[in-house]
Amino acid sequence: MSLILGIESSCDECSASVVRYGADEIKVLSLSTFSQIAIHQPYGGVVPEIASRNHLETINPMIETALAESGISPHDLDAIAVTNRPGLVGALLVGVSAAKALAYVHKKPLVAVHHLEGHAASIYLRSENSTLGSRNDMQLPLLLAIVSGGHTNLYVIKAPPELWPPDFLKRSLVGKSRDDAAGEAFDKTAKILGFPYPGGIWIDRTAKGGDPNRFPLPRALPQKATFDFSFSGFKTAVALLAEKLKREGTLEENLSHLCASIQEAIVDALLTKIFLAARANGCRSLAIVGGVAANSRLRERLAAEWHLHGFKVPPFFPEMTFCTDNAAMIAAAGAFRFRQGHFLKEADLLTLNAIANPEI
Ligand code: KG4
Ligand code: ZN
Repeated sequence: MSLILGIESSCDECSASVVRYGADEIKVLSLSTFSQIAIHQPYGGVVPEIASRNHLETINPMIETALAESGISPHDLDAIAVTNRPGLVGALLVGVSAAKALAYVHKKPLVAVHHLEGHAASIYLRSENSTLGSRNDMQLPLLLAIVSGGHTNLYVIKAPPELWPPDFLKRSLVGKSRDDAAGEAFDKTAKILGFPYPGGIWIDRTAKGGDPNRFPLPRALPQKATFDFSFSGFKTAVALLAEKLKREGTLEENLSHLCASIQEAIVDALLTKIFLAARANGCRSLAIVGGVAANSRLRERLAAEWHLHGFKVPPFFPEMTFCTDNAAMIAAAGAFRFRQGHFLKEADLLTLNAIANPEI
């Protein structure tokens, strides 16, 4: 059993969490997150300098709250894990500096975590009252989709997380977006329609009761030969359609149909490639993580369709709180790396740096 403190500050969520890594589950003992969404909303997107400054103000309270709520003193921690790549470099540096200071003062090992490995690890997290199934049902190979504001990546995972090699993300990537990420497609089309940032949740909410087939929108790269995505042309199609409806004075009355059609097109594009890649690589289960994994239509359609594609077990999603950026997933990924002996200690830990764009 290990007790790990996780710290995440790569973008606009400042988060700390304590998890307990046991034999067959990772229990989240506490999770304390300050979301900067409201602060960036007037600008229509994340402003890096404002993000870093805000992280400076909130990082210590987040860490103190996470430790207090878990009832764990820093002395009892086995390791401290922090996102050090990729992300906004100023924002990352705040978390990395706080983690280095804590690890140095309390003489704890420090684990550097890749943000996407955190998302990958999020399917193994269980909150106190979790009703999610056991990770033992997750049959390998697993088709893992990381679908967030920055990434739309498909991976074929052949090993359990305790055996993930350091560069497993790079090695197991089978498909990705060639331009905008799926979350960006939600956010940019939502912006066209006048919704606040980030727009994914607004499209999801407004689509309720709308007709997903009312407006036919393009699905890019439909050919079976690639597992890549492209969403940039889609954005233009939505802009032109919204302009037309505005001219006709029918945008308001069609808003829920338009949102449902946008959502359907993005979900369709995701599912087509997810199922294709899974089949081509002999995958026996599916997992979808990242902010867009919170989308209700994506979950609904997967629930209705997974068994049509030969799977014996339903797809795995993180609990809702662990879909968007959070420190519990960083602690989980850190726990796996710590178990493998990948950590810095004593004077070495002061060498850790933030990396904006790592290779993987
Ligand atoms: O994983 P995440 O918190 O941050 C990144 O690492 O990018 O993902 C944020 C993304 C945003 O694009 C947001 O609009 C999207 O996840 N998102 C959603 C929903 N909730 C969050 N997209 C569609 N439907 C949702 N319910
Ligand atoms: Zn993320």
